[in-house]
Amino acid sequence: MSQKILVTSALPYANGPIHLGHLAGAYLPADIFVRYHRLKGNDIVYICGSDEHGVPIMLRARAENLEPQQIVDRYHAIIKDSFEKFGMDFDYYGRTSAEIHHQTSQDFFRTLDNKNEFILKNENQLFDPEAGIFLADRFVRGTCPKCGYEDAYGDQCENCGTSLSPADLINPRSAITNAKPVMKETVHWYLSLEKYQPMLEKWIDEHPDWKPNALGQIKSWFKDGLKDRAMTRDLPWGVEIPEDVAHKAGIDSKGKVLYVWFDAPIGYISATREWSVKQGDPELWKKYWQQQDTRLIHFIGKDNIVFHCIIFPLMLKLHGEYVLPENVPANEFLNLEGDKLSTSRNYAVWLDEYLQKFEPDSLRYTLASIMPETKDADFSWKDFQARHNNELADILGNFVNRSFIFCHKYYEGKVPAIGTLSDLDKELINRLENAADKIGSIIDSHQYKNYVREVMDLTRFANKYFNDKEPWKARKENPESCATTIHLCIQTVRILGILFDPLIPFSAQKIRKSLNIAEQESWDAAKTLTLKTGHSISTAAILFTKIEDDVIDAEISRLQQVREAKNKNNKKETDEKAMIEIDDFAKLDLRVVKVLDAEKIPKTSRLLKLKVKNGDEERTIVSGIAEHYNPDDLIGKNVVIIANLKPVQLRGVESRGMILTAENNGELSLLTVMKDILPGSKIS
Ligand code: MF3
Ligand code: ZN
Repeated sequence: MSQKILVTSALPYANGPIHLGHLAGAYLPADIFVRYHRLKGNDIVYICGSDEHGVPIMLRARAENLEPQQIVDRYHAIIKDSFEKFGMDFDYYGRTSAEIHHQTSQDFFRTLDNKNEFILKNENQLFDPEAGIFLADRFVRGTCPKCGYEDAYGDQCENCGTSLSPADLINPRSAITNAKPVMKETVHWYLSLEKYQPMLEKWIDEHPDWKPNALGQIKSWFKDGLKDRAMTRDLPWGVEIPEDVAHKAGIDSKGKVLYVWFDAPIGYISATREWSVKQGDPELWKKYWQQQDTRLIHFIGKDNIVFHCIIFPLMLKLHGEYVLPENVPANEFLNLEGDKLSTSRNYAVWLDEYLQKFEPDSLRYTLASIMPETKDADFSWKDFQARHNNELADILGNFVNRSFIFCHKYYEGKVPAIGTLSDLDKELINRLENAADKIGSIIDSHQYKNYVREVMDLTRFANKYFNDKEPWKARKENPESCATTIHLCIQTVRILGILFDPLIPFSAQKIRKSLNIAEQESWDAAKTLTLKTGHSISTAAILFTKIEDDVIDAEISRLQQVREAKNKNNKKETDEKAMIEIDDFAKLDLRVVKVLDAEKIPKTSRLLKLKVKNGDEERTIVSGIAEHYNPDDLIGKNVVIIANLKPVQLRGVESRGMILTAENNGELSLLTVMKDILPGSKIS
């Protein structure tokens, strides 16, 4: 029976082009899945679009002295174009600055408000007095309480990956003006995640088949306890809060917008609505979003897990009229030549640049072969070249080519008659007939690497079959066997063309053309050898030309240069840091103190509250070491602190001083002293 499937890929932020990391995470696997189900004849709709709100876009606009709309217009066009050239087979690619999106997300917000699902909270937030703007998320930078990195963002530390909220930052500063923020009162609409945690846990328990990386993250969120989250922001760019909702609460809606993670996933819905309108049936979207027999599947990267597995499903559930996702296949990250991808340092391979030099299918093939399904993976240019040359060209290309050449040379380009079958012929037929079902269920269960392996193994077998049957010899000694071989090889080319279609659609199309097959055939048609004896084929298109070393070396050396520039910068920083005057050092009041008491701060994963003895005085210090030390193991230990650091508030606790740690690649050790010296002893 035909299935009804709705597939989404995470909406990319329209603040830069797409790179390989994005593709391997949320886009290529979805596209393979969709293309497969289309060939299966299922009723499937594939939705994506640009995420055009949020602070990163505003920051980019400020940096370039442009309006946010100009930034998103530019990148929406670039992203849409390169997706198309890469073969992303969306039914619709929308954008969240579209009118229909604003309306859909406002309606959604209003519905939740009418159902009393929001809690209004007054609170003090960081405010930039110079720019006159509240500093949400990435608008504020400061020192990471966990690793000490000085350029951490208000929502995340890029150095250690910890997710933060602006109030966690030590010495916060405005990312816009560098001003020291002040506290200012504001009000926001919160979604009560805490209240619904039991319901969410139950729902997640119904999906034990989800990938372990997603389940692991979700369960650790549950373990820490979900915290209520503000669904609104004070920002000039975004979907405005519906006026009537604000009025009802006696609040001025001006300058208040929906949190980008509230409106962006609703973008999936509004893009589907837009698609419906274009289909001439404006209500069509409801069939996919609001009927319970839809398989809804969100493809994402691992940094989006909490939003797609907890917050958005909760929104859908509370709204009441929507289906919830059947699965959220999340991929891990892709590294590049052994290093982390970095957009800001331009250490990446950008899709639009790639497509100017190479074919989309080579990248689709390589990325699917190394897809970061269960752990981070690494893209290297040498590996890309090897897969293109040794697998696509030497195995698939070679098999198609030699079969065609033989057929043209000795059978006038017509499929020769099949004769008596040998065991080897039978084995080939058997493999061909079983492949579609086997590979189909592999794709349907999101094992993309496995898919590549299977379909390539079948091609390898076909090549070996050609070799073992030695048609060049058999032509004279046993013409019937030779004709059978070529008959079966051409049948194999056709079947491979279907089985490879979701993975390398451009090459699959070339194969069809070479075979003189006008229409794309169904997936299940790959189970039968349908070409008639006498069917005439065209000349074989060149599927893959080899990629030469110098082309690949140029790519490697570009990345090498980026890396060297980065190392130079790092080195400069350390050098500069090393050169201080003795007077500068004397400003630090370093002390040995004894830990009297230690406890975890509730609802945080990394913060410990320590009571320490410093001479006659006792003081409280908050430290981001909970993931490295058990509170109980610390009691009685001597540690080193900076005693004269200005006090900061962390999660409602005043922290006076900082505990010193040594860090290497995420491993962390507290500093201590060699003798049990009196607490309060000075360090110089
Ligand atoms: N723009 C986000 C990112 O790139 C993804 C948004 S997914 C959506 O990480 F569901 F919110 F649309
Ligand atoms: Zn950090």
